[in-house]
Amino acid sequence: MKNLIISLIIIDLASAYRENFFDSQQLPYHSLPLGSESTFHWRVEPMMGMIEVEIHYVSEEHSWFAVGFSDHGDAKSSDYCVLWIDWRLTVHFHDAWANEAGIIQIDHHQDCNEFVWKKSSFENVTKFAFTRKFDTCDDQDYIIERGTTHIVWSKGRGPLSSLNGLNVISDSMSSGMSRTELLRLVIHERPKFSDDTWRFAILSDQVRVPDNETTYWCRVQRLPPILKQKHHILQFGPVIQRGNEHLVHHMEVFHCATSVNVIIPIYNGPCDSEDRPQTTQMCKKVLAAWAMGADEFVYPKEVGLSIGGERFNQFIMLEVHYNNPEYMKGVIDSSGIEFYITKTLRKYDAGVIELGLEYIDKMAIPPRQKSFELSGYCVSECTGMGLPHNGIFVFGSQLHTHLTGTKVRTRHIRDGQEISPLNYDNHYSTHFQEIRLLPVPVNILPGDSLITTCTYNTLNRRNITLGGFSISDEMCVNYIHYYPNARLEVCKSSISDDALRTYFRYMRDWENQHTDFNKAISTSYKNIEWTKLRVAALHDLYQAAPISMQCNGSDGTRLPGLWDNVAVPQIKSLQSPVVRKCPATYVSHHANNIDRLL
Ligand SMILES: *[C@@H]1O[C@H](CO)[C@@H](O)[C@H](O)[C@H]1NC(C)=O
Ligand SMILES: *[C@@H]1O[C@H](CO)[C@@H](O)[C@H](O)[C@H]1NC(C)=O
Ligand SMILES: *[C@@H]1O[C@H](CO)[C@@H](O)[C@H](O)[C@H]1NC(C)=O
Ligand SMILES: *[C@@H]1O[C@H](CO)[C@@H](O)[C@H](O)[C@H]1NC(C)=O
Repeated sequence: MKNLIISLIIIDLASAYRENFFDSQQLPYHSLPLGSESTFHWRVEPMMGMIEVEIHYVSEEHSWFAVGFSDHGDAKSSDYCVLWIDWRLTVHFHDAWANEAGIIQIDHHQDCNEFVWKKSSFENVTKFAFTRKFDTCDDQDYIIERGTTHIVWSKGRGPLSSLNGLNVISDSMSSGMSRTELLRLVIHERPKFSDDTWRFAILSDQVRVPDNETTYWCRVQRLPPILKQKHHILQFGPVIQRGNEHLVHHMEVFHCATSVNVIIPIYNGPCDSEDRPQTTQMCKKVLAAWAMGADEFVYPKEVGLSIGGERFNQFIMLEVHYNNPEYMKGVIDSSGIEFYITKTLRKYDAGVIELGLEYIDKMAIPPRQKSFELSGYCVSECTGMGLPHNGIFVFGSQLHTHLTGTKVRTRHIRDGQEISPLNYDNHYSTHFQEIRLLPVPVNILPGDSLITTCTYNTLNRRNITLGGFSISDEMCVNYIHYYPNARLEVCKSSISDDALRTYFRYMRDWENQHTDFNKAISTSYKNIEWTKLRVAALHDLYQAAPISMQCNGSDGTRLPGLWDNVAVPQIKSLQSPVVRKCPATYVSHHANNIDRLL
């Protein structure tokens, strides 16, 4: 309670609290804009298993404010903490739940605790704070997990006669949804930077942000001549133009990874414009990825990301995704990403390995599926060939699917035993992609196998979804960031041709479908009319069929080995499910949905 009251004052002095948190044992505060007039601040208390939240918003007199947690961002069917004022002008704070229609019911168990409230008389800003356990053991509450959390909010006019019956959508004046990684459990103990470290910002240049909901802006730039010499990136983070915090949704910096002499046109415009030169499509190797609500990314102390050098193409491209749901007009923006760079190289170059499925039409997701799973494998023969004797340490991970992905998980198997997952996100969204630091670096040894499983929701698609590069195609990838740099760069799989041929033959001979393996695979998939049985047969096929491995080195060649018709890794013992610490009186329906925090 004391902390919360102090924090109400501290947060006003943004710079002061940033300096203070290193003195205390607590994890730092983070902030997330919720639209242009409110912000969500929070701090994680891992030992207590809870978060401290503080909301600031511009209010009218007696207005109510609801903030909550939602599985995939829908404001309805969500868990809320609501501040409201009754007609006697008493201030209330309740733990509540909105049903499919958005109508609020107060929970039987009240789990939005330690409420503090403060109204600033001169700025019309109201602030309130509360604490919330990750898992309240109440089935009416959302379980806060590792990975993405969708924060929903809405506010409206008061006073209210009662909270029950309020509609969070139709009774609100404004509402919205923001995504963040809420449970940030990494303690940023900033490694020492060498004295010659300098800062290098890659910014957009006075972009007139369109009054469209979504804009992707691309700007190609040439690196400064000093980067003809190899350097290390030690950190990267956002530089957001003041006042535009709610508009800059995510940013990525891509390297135009092609021959050193290729000149890329200095394009500056919408990424999807017809005027965008074709050669800029080569700028797709990710150097940095940041999304709203994320902090800076700091490399571990012995590691740096290599940039520059004699054979390094000198062009990079900044992509900024502007999200403007309030259709603001005339906003000018020069936000971007700032790197900390040094020529004093650290011991290790960071490396990236791509795990998951090959993005080709052998991967397919039938239409009208609520949750269809596909897995990509990195088998022990491949890690055995491609990793050094002591293995590698994975410190970061970027999960990646396109529009229909809802969950991603990479499982880790050693000697037939499943150990803690490498990374997972049970509330994944393609619109919230960042390179995330893992709570602790994970050691992967030669001979380990990794299984990346993606879950897709195609309920609103009428046709089959196939693997591919286009945004309406799908992918299932985990880019892992690690050291020391190893030979292996791609460890992905697809179903073996033989198994797929057998399935298409079965569909033709027994189910009268127009499948034909001599035509394009996509044609056969598209010709199947998807019944429950045919979907189930495809699912079973993907579970059991042998695979074809892409086990490639960083020079683009295949590592020696037999990579066709490989058996999928066998798991002799599964990781035991996590036991929730809940009183026996609670009957739980969530038991299978929660994961380890670490
Ligand atoms: C605060 O609200 C009052 C009444 O709604 C309004 O007249 C005033 O301009 C507001 N002040 C600020 C600083 O927004
Ligand atoms: C904004 O939207 C309009 C209408 O959809 C479109 O014509 C225009 O190109 C968009 N502007 C940008 C910069 O994307
Ligand atoms: C679905 O497939 C049909 C037939 O190939 C095609 O005409 C239609 O445009 C597709 N629909 C969508 C939404 O892609
Ligand atoms: C792996 O290497 C082979 C041989 O160079 C190449 O044909 C294939 O496209 C590569 N696969 C991937 C996924 O890069």
